[in-house]
Formats: sequence, C-alpha cells, structure tokens
Amino acid sequence: MKLIISNHKMNLTVDQVKEYVEKLKTINSSNNKLVFCPSYLYLPYFKGDNYSLGCQNVADRHMGALTGEISIEQVKSLSVEYAIIGHSERRNILNETNELIQKKVTLCLEHDITPVLCIGEKEEEMSYKEQILEEEIKSVFSNVSNPERIVIAYEPIWAIGTGKVPTNEEINQTLLFIKNYIKDNFQVDCLTLYGGSVSDKNIIELKEVPSIDGYLIGGTSLDLSKLKVVIQELEG
Ligand code: PGA
Repeated sequence: MKLIISNHKMNLTVDQVKEYVEKLKTINSSNNKLVFCPSYLYLPYFKGDNYSLGCQNVADRHMGALTGEISIEQVKSLSVEYAIIGHSERRNILNETNELIQKKVTLCLEHDITPVLCIGEKEEEMSYKEQILEEEIKSVFSNVSNPERIVIAYEPIWAIGTGKVPTNEEINQTLLFIKNYIKDNFQVDCLTLYGGSVSDKNIIELKEVPSIDGYLIGGTSLDLSKLKVVIQELEG
C-alpha cells in the first residue's frame, strides 16, 4: 500500500475543479491510499468516498482574529484528515521557519490531522543535505509528544517542478537516512514519501525504490489522466 498525496498548490479555477471532481469519481485504488489537497477554496467540492482530503497548510494558532488565515478547527470541520506542513515553497517564498512549522505540526497532532512534514535540500546544499534534513526533523520531532503520527515527505527542492529527479539509489539512501535518524533519535517509525517531479513517465522506475512509502505529487496530479497512470502503476 502506498500513500499517494496530490498537491494542487495554487491551481485550478472553480469550473476546472468541478470537472476534476466529476472525473475523480471514476478513479479507484484498492491497494493505495489516495489523498487530495486542493486549494482551501475547493475543499467542500471534494466529497468522494474513494479518497481522503488534505489541505496545503494551516495557521500556526487556533481559530480567532487573524485576517486571511485558515485555522486547524476550520479545516477539521471540513473533514480534512491530512495537512501538508512546511512545503519548500512556503519555507522559501514565505519565509516559514522551523519554529513556525513545529507549531503547525503540533496543532495538527492535537486535532488528529496527519501532518505531512516536507523536508529537503536546495541544489547548493546537496553536499551536506543530511545536516539540513536533520535540522528540519529535529526542530519538529524534539517538540511534539506523538511524532510517530507524522508523515515525512522528502522533496529535494531542485527536483520540484523541474523534471529533474535523483537516481533511485540516491532516493533510497536518503529515505533510509531519514528513517534511521528518526528511529535512532526519537524511537519511532514514520512513513517516508518521495516528492519532486513524480510523473506518469517516471513512476515505473521510481516504484522500484524499496524505501518509498508513497509519493507527494504536484504538477502531474492536476491532470487526472496522468495521475491515473501513476495510480495504476502502483496497484500491482
Ligand atoms: P511537483 O511538485 O510534483 O510538481 O514537482 C511536488 C510538490 O511540490 O509537492
């Protein structure tokens, strides 16, 4: 069973979403767990029983006065079960810090929403990526009480939306490093996903990586015919 999480980012108009949701009714997966993370605006449109719902972020504090933000209580009331936290676009473009990300993960755990913690190195950090990954994990894991419920999404930043993907060997080694680091330091096992240019073209190769527990998929998930190919490849 693989966990396949679709991240729509800031894409699709309302008409496109209505069409997407219609087509989604025909997609089924008996061996994989499917999660869709549309824009907040469209969460109420995703009501199928063949998948779970996720959001792409949450505010770092409880419901209340914070103009323009979305709280954990609000997404919970829309049956959201997963939340992508600390995506590199938010870390780098919106300057989210490890401290802020830790607060968001804590809120998710308190509200029984599975946090999908994104970690990964920039191209210029590749030679010391373990250090970056350790810092991103440690800052969150040291400060939460039930870290085994965190899902890790390893996304090399240089692989996101670029069509560039590390070799299978590199992905495997990095995911094993992450799993071992978490086990040795926090005594828990966490699911580890790979994300970064996963597509209908490279899934045949990627599915051979033994340590991958699932995938976080951006661009390809916007086209359901391509996503369907990915899901079918992972069925067998
Ligand atoms: P991508 O995005 O599949 O378009 O590379 C992945 C992500 O950013 O989660």
